[in-house]
Amino acid sequence: MNLQGNSFRELFPVDSSLRRFGSKYACHRVGVGNLAAASAALNACKADERAGRVREVPAEEYLDFASKSRSAVIGGQAIPLEPIEAVRLEPLPEELGDVSTTVWSFPKRGSWATHRGDHRGNWAPQVPRALILRYTEPGDTVLDPMAGSGTTCIEAVLLGRKCIAVDISYGAVVLTHHRLHHLARALEKRGGGSVEARYRVFHGDARRLDEIPDGSVDLVAAHPPHFGSVRYGGEEGDLSGARSLEEHLAMFRQAAREAYRVLRPGGVLGILVGDTRVSRCYVPTTHYVLLALLDAGFALREEVVKIQHNMKATREVWRRVRRDFLLIYHEKLFILEKPGGAEAKPRCVVKRPPLKI
Ligand SMILES: C[S@@+](CC[C@H](N)C(=O)[O-])C[C@H]1O[C@@H](n2cnc3c(N)ncnc32)[C@H](O)[C@@H]1O
Repeated sequence: MNLQGNSFRELFPVDSSLRRFGSKYACHRVGVGNLAAASAALNACKADERAGRVREVPAEEYLDFASKSRSAVIGGQAIPLEPIEAVRLEPLPEELGDVSTTVWSFPKRGSWATHRGDHRGNWAPQVPRALILRYTEPGDTVLDPMAGSGTTCIEAVLLGRKCIAVDISYGAVVLTHHRLHHLARALEKRGGGSVEARYRVFHGDARRLDEIPDGSVDLVAAHPPHFGSVRYGGEEGDLSGARSLEEHLAMFRQAAREAYRVLRPGGVLGILVGDTRVSRCYVPTTHYVLLALLDAGFALREEVVKIQHNMKATREVWRRVRRDFLLIYHEKLFILEKPGGAEAKPRCVVKRPPLKI
């Protein structure tokens, strides 16, 4: 479908019944197994009730911001909003790794187009690129509900898809706009048409995507904060601010259900998650997260182990310390499907085992 000239209002007409969906998105549906978890879940729910609706941030607002402020601040880190010169728009062959197996490794972080490595915790552009190429067609809609610096949307636009970016941090929203703005200028210079009509950027909570209708998205590509890792902004509802694993998982469940709602039947969710250690003990967050995704109704298609590179800082911290545990050098990319697509039955359904967490 040629989208040039179409307004996004036409593409995603706002159904007023959906506006009420967030509040109906009930706290009582948070399933938990013990008292601590129940109280954490209740707190997360209260935060959810307080959380406002997602708000579209138009390009004019970003331009106004950038004319007055030199940087976007995310979790105390100031990232300069200086012009970005896109030297090349395509990855080099050595940047692209093999994505045909269940182990992905990108030793060279992609730096094509307007990708930059200065946002703590951004994912390698090779990951959303591989998801977009494998699971969508040109003209399809990709959503990144925790967009950070906009890596997913840059790839979606480069590959001729539409993109919706959402983030709870206003700094991340501005940064996403900034990278897309300079990408649009670079594409125009190459003689392509305007791409502005192909992306929308929202400030808000991945757990309440009120402006995005049911079944309107083809691919959700998400990279939520890992539990116990980088702290992003201090916004209420930011998953990186969870004080316990239970609270993190309660918030995660809400975001998983929203991703499920907005995906079309047969649509795909690609989500990169990681484990951690607390007091030397391995915390298998990715296992709990997978159960939450299966609970939300998704069917698992792939589990990819993504090798982590550039772990110099972590190595340095532990170099001189005697330790009786291994350093975690991998993340998991779960690729799941919302059942009910063209294939009457999903090709494979992994059911959640009857465990309480
Ligand atoms: C790991 S970063 C994403 C990085 C991104 N993939 C990139 O390449 O730049 C996680 C992001 O999730 C955002 N976030 C955390 N909780 C959120 C929530 N409830 N709703 C929306 N965004 C959230 C944080 O502000 C942060 O920008």
